[in-house]
Amino acid sequence: MCERMTKRDSYISDCGMRVPSSGTMKAATRARELEAQGRTIIKLGIGEPNFKTPQPIIDAAYKAMNEGKTGYTSSRGILPLREKIATIYSKETNVEINPHANVIVTPGAKASLFSALFSLINPGDNMILISPYWPSYQGIATFIGAKTKPVPAHYGDFEFPFESIKSAIDEQTKLLLVNSPCNPTGAIFEEDALRFIKDISEDYDIYIISDEIYKKITFESQYVSYLTVTETLDRTLIIDGLSKSHAMTGWRIGYSIGDKELISSMNRLQQNVSSCVNTPTQYAALTALDLTEPTKMMVAEYKKRRDKAFEFIEKSAYLSCRKPEGAFYLFIQYKGDICSDEFVSRVLEEKSVAVTAGTVFGVQENYFRLSLASKLEDILEGLKRIDDLLEKINK
Ligand SMILES: Cc1ncc(COP(=O)(O)O)c(C=O)c1O
Repeated sequence: MCERMTKRDSYISDCGMRVPSSGTMKAATRARELEAQGRTIIKLGIGEPNFKTPQPIIDAAYKAMNEGKTGYTSSRGILPLREKIATIYSKETNVEINPHANVIVTPGAKASLFSALFSLINPGDNMILISPYWPSYQGIATFIGAKTKPVPAHYGDFEFPFESIKSAIDEQTKLLLVNSPCNPTGAIFEEDALRFIKDISEDYDIYIISDEIYKKITFESQYVSYLTVTETLDRTLIIDGLSKSHAMTGWRIGYSIGDKELISSMNRLQQNVSSCVNTPTQYAALTALDLTEPTKMMVAEYKKRRDKAFEFIEKSAYLSCRKPEGAFYLFIQYKGDICSDEFVSRVLEEKSVAVTAGTVFGVQENYFRLSLASKLEDILEGLKRIDDLLEKINK
């Protein structure tokens, strides 16, 4: 046995040390601390639908448990669920999807993203992201040791940055990760953007991950999957899930559709990490995928909240925002000589409102994200308090 002369500074690996903590979770933790001190906080920070999971979904999980469906399943997910996912996407996109080879069910879309990035990226590779972006893309890539190359969408309107994507590509670029409808801006890619992405993928041999988790939450127009333009699964992974569309955040269920080789690698990882998604949830998901009415009801409610919040913002002297076409967030620009980290911290400490700083989404300018997944009264009261604080700051 060797005798160690010096004590280790830390037992955590380099890889573990690289993992950034979640920016949205940090703010939520502080909000909880203030609540524990007796403060009432208006929570507009986290992207969690404030709706109960629809009852038929709960009943389906309960039924599965009562029927003894409580053991491990195939690590790819139960076959009827993969078949349903394949059928839905094939019908919509005309792409042939084999439920045995091209679909995997994962514990949330986040787990799909993790195993996909882990499977695709080598340390030293880089991945292009369009900023503002959902922070876990950056977090997972950093953990793996990959570099991210954020390409800013056009500020103000957050339109798709065609030319800057092209100029960001270099020898080490392995993939482009896109998210439409976008968290946090609510922007939806038009067909010309999807075609451009496909051309980039072909011309530069770049993999595309399309995160479509907000696909069903759109207000004016429908979002069509990136698969409709690719017409093939080559160099393509679609990520989707039920957290947002069916208010199932805590159930942990997502899924991916992609080429056989990538899905197989993601499956090997899942076999070693989580084995499978918990079984009753998979049966509940089977029911969820047949339910369209609850999502329509939620979307109508988000639209109402968006419109009312937008009316307020239009009247404000300090706030401006692109009108989101989908998802359930407002990415709001504010006036004032104060950075967004300090601003949201003051909003929380002085006004008891939790929102998320723009920096969390890779944006250095004066932005914050407000979630519409809360009661309308809370959204309007939160905006009023934020406006009051800005009046004080801008005096
Ligand atoms: C853009 C985006 N992708 C993926 C996820 C992860 O969702 P899930 O709960 O399925 O892991 C989220 C959750 O906030 C998200 O906003």
